[in-house]
This record gives sequence, C-alpha cells and structure tokens, in this order.
Amino acid sequence: MDNFDICVIGGGPAGYVAALKSALNGMKVAIIEKDKLGGTCLNRGCIPTKVLYSKAKFLSSLKSGVSGFHINKYNYNYEDIINYKDEVVSTLVGGVGKLLKARNVNVFNGNAFIISAPVKKNNIAAVIKIKENNDNSEIEIAASNIIIATGSSPAMIPAFHIDHAHIITSDEILNIKSVPEDIAIIGAGVIGCEFANIFNEFNSKVIMLELLPSILSTEDKEISKFTHKILTSKNIEIRTSVEVADISAGGRGAVVSLKTGENIEAEKVLVSIGRNLNTGSLGLKEIGVELDVKGKIKTDAHNETNIPGIYACGDVIDGPMLAHKASYDGVIASENIAGRKIEKNYSALPWSIYVSPPIGTVGLKEGDKGLENVKYRVGRFSYAANGMALAMEEKEGFLKVLTEEETGRIIGATGIGADMPELVAEITAIMHFNGTINDAEFTIHSHPTLSEIVPEAVLDSIGEAIHKYNPRMFKK
Ligand code: NAI
Repeated sequence: MDNFDICVIGGGPAGYVAALKSALNGMKVAIIEKDKLGGTCLNRGCIPTKVLYSKAKFLSSLKSGVSGFHINKYNYNYEDIINYKDEVVSTLVGGVGKLLKARNVNVFNGNAFIISAPVKKNNIAAVIKIKENNDNSEIEIAASNIIIATGSSPAMIPAFHIDHAHIITSDEILNIKSVPEDIAIIGAGVIGCEFANIFNEFNSKVIMLELLPSILSTEDKEISKFTHKILTSKNIEIRTSVEVADISAGGRGAVVSLKTGENIEAEKVLVSIGRNLNTGSLGLKEIGVELDVKGKIKTDAHNETNIPGIYACGDVIDGPMLAHKASYDGVIASENIAGRKIEKNYSALPWSIYVSPPIGTVGLKEGDKGLENVKYRVGRFSYAANGMALAMEEKEGFLKVLTEEETGRIIGATGIGADMPELVAEITAIMHFNGTINDAEFTIHSHPTLSEIVPEAVLDSIGEAIHKYNPRMFKK
C-alpha cells in the first residue's frame, strides 16, 4: 500500500491549494478528485461565470453606448462565448494539473472513502479507499494526515423537480448553448443575482422569485436596496416574499407554481437556493468526525477536526462558501500539519458579488452581531465625486467604511461600483495589518484612480473627507 504524509480529498480551491502548499512544505502528498481538478470554482463557479460576466459587461456598453460613440451595428454568437469560457476553464484546470505534477503530488481520479482514522499516538496511518473512475477498481492508500476538502453542490428540493434540462442549477446554466428567451430564477442570493445580471444583458426576460423580503439578504441593507434598484432599472422583474410550491417541466420549458396559485412559465428555470455539503459518502460518521448543528465539519483554529490528524477546509467547515476562504483554509491546515501553529482569522475576509457594477465587502457591516458592543462611525464616498470614475463613465456607486470610534481602526467596508472588489482588496490589506484612519490617509494613492475613493470614504467617517462638503464641520 502506498504511504503518504498527507491525503487531500477534493481537488477544488481548498484541496488543490492545500496539496500544493504541503508539497512546498516537503510533504509526500496524494490528492483524490472524483471529477475535474479545480472543483466548483474553476469548472462550475467563479471562473466560468466571470467569463460570462465580462462578456455581458462588454455587450452592455455596446448596447447603451458611451459618450461620443454611436454604435450602429454589432453581433455576437453565444456559442462562441461558451467555447471561449470552456477554453479559459481548461487552461486553468490544466495549469492546476501541471503544478501538482511538477510538485510530485500523486493525483487519483476517483471517489474516496475513509476506512480508518490516523492514530497519532501509535503512529498508525489512516487508510483511504479509492474507487477509481477509469476502471471502477478499488485501491487503498495510507496517510498520516487527511485533509477533507470535498466542497458543496447546488441544493435541490424534491418539489422543484430539477431535470437538468429545463429546470436547472448553476452547474448546467453555464453550458447551455443559446440564450433562453426567458428565465425564472428561484432565489435572489449571490448566484441568482449574478445570473440575472448576465442573462438580462444577453436579452433574456428575467424574473427573480425570492422567499425572503429582500434580495441579497445577507448583505448590507443599503447595498441590497441599491442592487434591487439597479436590477429593476434594467427591467429585471424581482418578486420578494414569494413562496414557490412546485416547479415542473412543461409549457415552453417549465412552469413555476406559486403558493398563491399563480403560474409562471419560462424556457428555463434556474434554482439557486443555496448549496449542500458534499460530506455524505466519506465515511465520516463511521470514524467519528464531529459535525456542528448545521451539519458542517467542526474544526478548531488550526482546521483540525476532533480526530487528530484529520483536517477539514472550505465549504464543508464553518464560514462563507467562498473559493478564496477555502484556499486560505487549505494553507492553514497545511501549515499546521507541517508543524507551524498558525490560527485562522477571518476578521478581514473579503467577498465580491459580480452584478453590474460589482459589490465588494470585507469584515463587519452594519447590522452584524459583531458590532453590537462596538462604537463605530460610518464614512461614505460616492463614485460621482471621483475624477477617474467620471472619466470612465462609471459614476454609479459608493463605498461605505466602518471605523472604530475608540481606536480609529478600520473594521469593515462594503460598496458597489466599478472595480469595487479591487478597492476592497486595498481595505482588506489595511485591515490585515490592523490599520487605522491615519494609515488609509497617509497611504499615497495614484491620481487619477478609483482607489482614491478609499481614503476619502475612510476620512469621511470622521467628517474629514477632502473632496466632500460636510456642512457639520463649518457651522458658523
Ligand atoms: P445564497 O444563500 O446566496 O442565496 C440563496 C437565496 O435563495 C436566498 O436569498 C434564499 O432566501 C433564497 N431561497 C431559499 N429557498 C428558497 C425558495 N424555496 N424559494 C425562493 N427563494 C429561496 O445561495 P446561492 O446564491 O445559491 O449561492 C451559494 C453560495 O455560493 C453562497 O454561499 C455564495 O457565497 C457562493 N457564491 C459566491 C460567489 C462569489 O463570491 N462571487 C458567486 C456565487 C456563489
């Protein structure tokens, strides 16, 4: 039986990064992936959607034009766009494979089942069974440590009769070869809003049906409302507080039946109501891995489970389901296995939502439990007051920053506007170093750039933004 220092289960951004990092740390590593390397992020999530997003954005500027340009005629072929998306995906997936090979990581293509846990005290390695995809044969490998990084899949509800043809999930929508005439999107969360924005630009008639009273309900309220306004101004129909009773194939594609008795027909129905964990078939219960109340794998600050030597990372553990959080988790597990005691810290964890313009957030936002006992100030700066934004004809949007009253530390930021995720990256770096209002102010920002919005929003939290009129400051 082959013996490894580490066996990583799952080849997504948590797993493959953990494998690459562990190899850099001098470990003998195996990685088991049942599908394609790169996981949801590269194959069915972040990357393919961003190809469609950037094409939709380009189309939007062709349609609406920019000052001084009159575009009389343009054409596009959606199938070519999908082919380009596939090219990007296969380049990146191939790149991951090459990196793993170059670092001598053994890649197994198949399904993993943990037969026994490692016993650190007696130095007994774990045994993992792999049912290989190519010939269905079963092999066993041994590993001193296991990193579970099996991710998540779209949530399904039996009454929604997902047939993967007319009633689809985010997995299938990325591969449809033509733009549907109309699409009903169930769930106005991150995935629902991103696809609503994309398909609306490609001229589908889009309706979103959301159970809760607002879209993007976990985001800052102002951001949620602003996004609602932008999406409806583009003629996307949004219905909130709506209960879907049943979805079935029929009519021109599928019919969504609401609890009120109303039926909505569409060529495609996208179900984007959250994601389920891929932990069911690993044998976790049999070896005694503890789960939390949400069914996620319980881990400590080192991403180690209750069983010494078994680690878990990414969507299967606590925290938001984000690719970069998963990769961070992978590095934390890998470093701890290598003997460096590093504790994870999500206090400066950023995330982005790619509607047009995009949303970016990091750290705490108004309404969060973490702010209950904190005295904080809010600063704001608008894109309309930034020279570069006007030059780019991107005057829609704003950045909002929270600073702690007592220390001046930046504790969170959220905003919507052109390149907002990049602006939030700067704030993330400041927060990583526990930076304050002064740090943002005295960091020199190149002019003209959108990044100048950052110090202005931060300074506005104390009423001192340079390019903003604040009547409170100059009362006679
Ligand atoms: P989500 O949790 O963001 O949104 C699901 C929405 O569906 C919620 O608003 C919920 O209230 C609604 N819903 C639930 N049941 C419903 C029902 N029966 N009828 C109508 N509405 C219903 O989940 P989503 O959008 O599926 O995304 C999954 C995960 O993927 C998220 O955790 C997100 O963080 C991640 N993701 C991240 C992206 C990014 O970083 N840009 C992009 C896409 C996804």
